[in-house]
Amino acid sequence: MADVVLITGASEGIGRATAFTFARGGYRLALAARTAETLKQTAIDLEQSLNAEVLAVPTDVTQPEQVQNLVERTLERYGRIDCLINNAGICMSGPFLQTTLEHWQALMAVNFWGYLHTIRAVLPDMLKRKKGQIINVGSIGGKMPLPQMSAYCASKYAVSGLTEALRLELQPQGIQVIGVHPGIVSSNFLKRAIFEVGPASSPDSQAQTSGGKAREQMQQALESFWVSQPEEVAEAIWDAARQSKSEVVVGMAQWAVGAYTLFPGWVGSLLQNVPR
Ligand SMILES: NC(=O)c1ccc[n+]([C@@H]2O[C@H](COP(=O)([O-])OP(=O)(O)OC[C@H]3O[C@@H](n4cnc5c(N)ncnc54)[C@H](OP(=O)(O)O)[C@@H]3O)[C@@H](O)[C@H]2O)c1
Repeated sequence: MADVVLITGASEGIGRATAFTFARGGYRLALAARTAETLKQTAIDLEQSLNAEVLAVPTDVTQPEQVQNLVERTLERYGRIDCLINNAGICMSGPFLQTTLEHWQALMAVNFWGYLHTIRAVLPDMLKRKKGQIINVGSIGGKMPLPQMSAYCASKYAVSGLTEALRLELQPQGIQVIGVHPGIVSSNFLKRAIFEVGPASSPDSQAQTSGGKAREQMQQALESFWVSQPEEVAEAIWDAARQSKSEVVVGMAQWAVGAYTLFPGWVGSLLQNVPR
């Protein structure tokens, strides 16, 4: 029987590209995201273009009971989960004191607790079978600091810590824990980011606040040579899974992370002087 992969945030961007890559590799798929229509459309596209076997379960990863339902339905349908890809995430940028506690909680709820809920739900089955892979999609922001992105960096550094500590704990039990860290990726992620520059706004990931300059800078970043395509990240996730790598920094981000690791003070001062 073909292996089974469960992917969160699978309706768009990196998650959707990863679903196509794993389907091409022969995996059976369980896909999750909140918006039922886009998730269903992704499932239809996979079935029609690749004849893939797909279970699509609309799920909000911030809700542990919904995640439990996702995992139970996947186990009922396929009998096992070989690979979990934690990918659903949201972004926020803004000066620290102008971000609200609600923003921080909303960000941590998806980017950190969302990952924890899925891991807790899939692990008992993997431990029973002494086999499995957990791939956490982190970020360059979980490997080096980015100014005006303290909440996002905190959430992604938390993912890095969780990934590295769990790797040590679970490796002897046959489970691989892998971190994949993209740089800037051309998806709707940055367009949907919360840009907090003034009074409190909605903490929902769809919130569009008037961070004109910050938004303009994000747009410029999306047009720069640093940008990866979702398909490139999907390939990096696939390679990491096939070659059992511990960690991958994707594309040009590896140069920035490498430079920060070697010269943190120098890179930090360059980042501080980026005009805003
Ligand atoms: N794009 C970048 O520049 C970049 C850079 C570094 C790292 N990353 C990381 O890569 C991952 C994917 O990013 P992306 O660029 O592919 O983002 P994206 O295009 O915005 O897609 C995000 C996906 O996550 C889903 N999602 C959001 N909140 C969710 C929730 N509470 N529960 C379940 N699903 C949820 C979205 O669908 P619904 O809204 O329908 O739920 C969508 O399917 C994230 O972890 C991000 O931090 C991205």
